[in-house]
Amino acid sequence: IKHLLSGADLDADTATEILDTAAEMATVAGREIKKLPALRGRTVVNLFYEDSTRTRISFEAAAKRLSADVINFSAKGSSVTKGESLKDTALTLQAMGADAVVVRHPASGAPHRLANWVDGSVVNAGDGTHEHPTQALLDAYTMRARLGRLAGLSVAVVGDVLHSRVARSNVLLLSTLGAKVTLVGPPTLIPVDIAGALAPAIDVSYDLDSVLPGVDVVMMLRVQRERMNDSYFPSAREYARRYGLDGPRMRRLPEHAIVMHPGPMNRGMEITPEVADSPRSTIVEQVTNGVSVRMAVLYLLLGGNNR
Ligand code: CP
Repeated sequence: IKHLLSGADLDADTATEILDTAAEMATVAGREIKKLPALRGRTVVNLFYEDSTRTRISFEAAAKRLSADVINFSAKGSSVTKGESLKDTALTLQAMGADAVVVRHPASGAPHRLANWVDGSVVNAGDGTHEHPTQALLDAYTMRARLGRLAGLSVAVVGDVLHSRVARSNVLLLSTLGAKVTLVGPPTLIPVDIAGALAPAIDVSYDLDSVLPGVDVVMMLRVQRERMNDSYFPSAREYARRYGLDGPRMRRLPEHAIVMHPGPMNRGMEITPEVADSPRSTIVEQVTNGVSVRMAVLYLLLGGNNR
């Protein structure tokens, strides 16, 4: 594939190749000499129109560990504030020789538009409420590393599905890789058509307590208040009472089950500190794995030294 825009771009073989390559990259990260020469002479541009901590930094770390040159572009402080369009910004970056553009944008579909305007590869680092495919890849990597497989796993994705690009990409990728996904949350935050539209075998439940005893993975989503109209949102206390993962709820999970969250977290709302910091939590591992997965994505899209 030339671009990574959606979880739907990945068939099972391609996704597995990325996860296997990421596992090889992880061994590099553990070595004393952390750098590979694979992308020497290539330029990766991080084009971020929305705030990010994990994704931007891990793409930067990934590109540098592959010896690429990295240009970090943040819309704040750029000519975007003077009204320059995404297309003109993209053409400017193109003129500077970008081999890959990693883009985060508040508008769903922006990376797809960008892919029509630049010659290099485009990686979607989160577009509006639409998709975040490398987050889904690092989540799948983390599940496979902790539980040994993906096929047949039962995964509950819990909370603000409506605004979650993480949920959409995970539903697509996990379904491709043979996991069974159940979306859990209040009816106002689970779009009525999402399950069937994304993948035919998705279940929906509005009752977290009944779902927990049967899952291998519970993935808590951030409640994205910045994308909501307060009038249709329950109080934080009410939300936590019905859909927050706290200690007693965590103890309803099977012994082997893991707790995930893409970050950033609203501690005390969708997840309590007791759960987030427990041995079942993979939240810090997800961040570590994100670097290896993004190394694999850049390596495979840009072809290393050989293509
Ligand atoms: N998970 C995630 O995308 O985090 P950031 O917004 O910090 O990049």
